[in-house]
Amino acid sequence: MIELIKKLCESFGPSGRENTVRSLIIEELKKNGVDFTIDTLGNLIVTKESKESQDAKKILIAAHMDEIGLMVTFIDEDGFLRFTNIGGLLKNTLPGRKVVFENGTVGIIGQEKIKNTKELVLDKLYIDIGAQSHEEAKSKVKIGDMAVFLAPFSREGNRVMAKSLDNRIGCAVVLEALKKLLSFSLPNTVYFVFTVQEEVGLRGARPVAYRLKPDFGLAIDVTRVGDTPEPEFNTNVALGKGPTVKIKDSSVICHPQVTNLMIKVAENKNIPYQPEVLERGGTDAGAIHLVREGIPSGALSIPCRYIHTPAEMVDLDDVKNSVSFLSELLKVSW
Ligand code: CO
Ligand code: ZN
Repeated sequence: MIELIKKLCESFGPSGRENTVRSLIIEELKKNGVDFTIDTLGNLIVTKESKESQDAKKILIAAHMDEIGLMVTFIDEDGFLRFTNIGGLLKNTLPGRKVVFENGTVGIIGQEKIKNTKELVLDKLYIDIGAQSHEEAKSKVKIGDMAVFLAPFSREGNRVMAKSLDNRIGCAVVLEALKKLLSFSLPNTVYFVFTVQEEVGLRGARPVAYRLKPDFGLAIDVTRVGDTPEPEFNTNVALGKGPTVKIKDSSVICHPQVTNLMIKVAENKNIPYQPEVLERGGTDAGAIHLVREGIPSGALSIPCRYIHTPAEMVDLDDVKNSVSFLSELLKVSW
């Protein structure tokens, strides 16, 4: 699974340009003989029909493939690029970072002179791709091109560090659970969906939920932790203490039918779990629960440090427990 996580994290996939990530996932599906469809916006859908009962419930599992990124807005006369954000970039983590475009062009984020850190806004930053003229820059990069952080994957003991663990780790968890469940006959029909454009406002999940008309929705994503020095958020969620059962975030108040079932399954199967109340941030469940007449939804999150920076961190026990948790959840009737 480590190799898969590394490949997924190191690949290029800002919102709306998820094709490389999708191809990697498709490669894994094909290796396992799994059929799939892709909708018009690029969501990747795997359906596992229940053969057990006529009135089997339909469950939509959603993990977003996209990551935050940068988009070129302007190329100046000396060949420096100005950019806007794709999703929630944290401006104080940007200066000095390397970024890479889809065609492989690498740049460094530079910063203009500022008097104090409050002046650090995106307008004060630029991308330097080493071009020595406007023409040279234009030959490599166009207005509207996207870049993502260039950051290698690392592992230290039980922890992995990489860019875009939000949410490639969720994709890996869903893929592993799907593989584990291949030989099982399930009481529910399950749609395993790898969504697009979550980071820009949960956009891919909405039409795919509309199309599939599920009875329940469950997002698989990362969540913030409070176990670092003077954390920014008040939360008991910590790395290594298990996946979370989301209760609320800014996008959804999870349906008690879903959270209660999650807690029951975790307790019955002795899977460690943590209750999650995320004060800022959302997930695909936020979009799914508002589709059609409303779809009771929840989320299973993988605790993650330094979310939306070029170096995020998760614990491998949490990852393994998330795979078990998701698999067990899908083996019971909803
Ligand atoms: Co995110
Ligand atoms: Zn996410």
